[in-house]
Amino acid sequence: MLKSIALLALCATLAAANLQRIPLYRNPNFQSTPESAAAEAAMVRAKYAFDTVPTTGDNSMGHEPLINFANRIYYGQITIGTPPQEFLVSFDTGSSNLWVPSIKCSACSQTCLNHQKYNASASSTYVANGTGFYMDYSQGGVIGYLSEDTVRVGDIVVENQVFAEILTEVDNSFTQQSYDGILGLGFQSLAVDDVTPVLSNMWSQKLLAQEVFSLYLATDGTSQQGGELILGGSDPSRYQGDLYYVNLSKKNRWQIKMNSVYFGDSTLCKDGCEAVVDTGSSLILMPDGAFKLFMDVFYNSEHLPDMEFVINGSSFTLPANLVNVQKSGSDHWVLGAAFLEGFYTEFDMANERIGFGTLA
Ligand SMILES: *[C@@H]1O[C@H](CO)[C@@H](O)[C@H](O)[C@H]1NC(C)=O
Ligand SMILES: *[C@@H]1O[C@H](CO)[C@@H](O)[C@H](O)[C@H]1NC(C)=O
Ligand SMILES: *[C@@H]1O[C@H](CO)[C@@H](O)[C@H](O)[C@H]1NC(C)=O
Ligand SMILES: *[C@@H]1O[C@H](CO)[C@@H](O)[C@H](O)[C@H]1NC(C)=O
Repeated sequence: MLKSIALLALCATLAAANLQRIPLYRNPNFQSTPESAAAEAAMVRAKYAFDTVPTTGDNSMGHEPLINFANRIYYGQITIGTPPQEFLVSFDTGSSNLWVPSIKCSACSQTCLNHQKYNASASSTYVANGTGFYMDYSQGGVIGYLSEDTVRVGDIVVENQVFAEILTEVDNSFTQQSYDGILGLGFQSLAVDDVTPVLSNMWSQKLLAQEVFSLYLATDGTSQQGGELILGGSDPSRYQGDLYYVNLSKKNRWQIKMNSVYFGDSTLCKDGCEAVVDTGSSLILMPDGAFKLFMDVFYNSEHLPDMEFVINGSSFTLPANLVNVQKSGSDHWVLGAAFLEGFYTEFDMANERIGFGTLA
């Protein structure tokens, strides 16, 4: 008996030790404004290529110059190559590729001047690939080619990871970002060039205890320490009680169906609404009709009510914040950091489900 308890304790310790913790940061100087939120909303709409519906009286759709685009997206550090070259990347559940600027990046690209660049010649583990790469962000985009090298995230070392070296970008979309590139946490079916994503390689190379990652974000807006991405499982010390799960509503995308969303006396979503859970965005986007209801409540309330999200029958409450809410221009919702800051979130790749918990 004692022996098995000791063994269980040992296993628990080992399991905890297997979790890889990646500290997350965000731009401490950035103040979110309606303009920056509108610009980001345009980018998120393009990222998901939603079937957009026509909007009326529109001042936040489609035409924002992304050159002014900067935001509160969370990012963390990875390395590529041997010896390691360091990059800051946004960990993005809304896309599936890893890309960073290349040392061969065009000198007239602002992004390349401002960011870390990958130098293949300086890495002994570099393997050439050369396949063209283009990722469309509607009013911007990144263009480059594929390469292969060792990628390190926390203490996890992934061998032969294919990623994109960026040569140039359209419209300087990423010039002002605090991070250098993006590490997609989405599924392979959405990957440009059908590249195997970093987490899929971690799993097939047996580097993860569980095919799961999780995330909590610090709500303290002035903090430079923004939270943690946890690879290989969840950390129960970071949430209270249980995680409440919901199955993905769309295979191979971090998309769920919410039962309903309430804001004061208004019902912003009823009888089921599709929502993508997007760590690579700072906003909550909602369909235009819901946005109009939101604004009505916002401007007519003396005391701003909380937003209540009902997901697989469980209720999740979030304080509302105007600048973080935008129109999605479609019938989809997007739950970005403004939502994720309120909860502990587990992304379960094996069971194709997402779990939410109350932050500890
Ligand atoms: C890239 O690395 C090689 C090999 O270390 C070095 O000779 C070269 O100067 C580097 N390129 C740049 C632009 O830093
Ligand atoms: C480049 O990588 C892609 C994606 O992994 C792969 O399909 C392709 O075969 C590779 N090409 C070469 C020349 O290695
Ligand atoms: C959804 O909620 C039901 C009832 O609480 C629960 O039994 C089920 O496991 C949940 N769904 C998932 C995917 O876990
Ligand atoms: C969730 O999906 C699993 C299979 O992955 C299925 O067994 C279960 O019934 C589903 N739960 C709900 C609430 O749909």
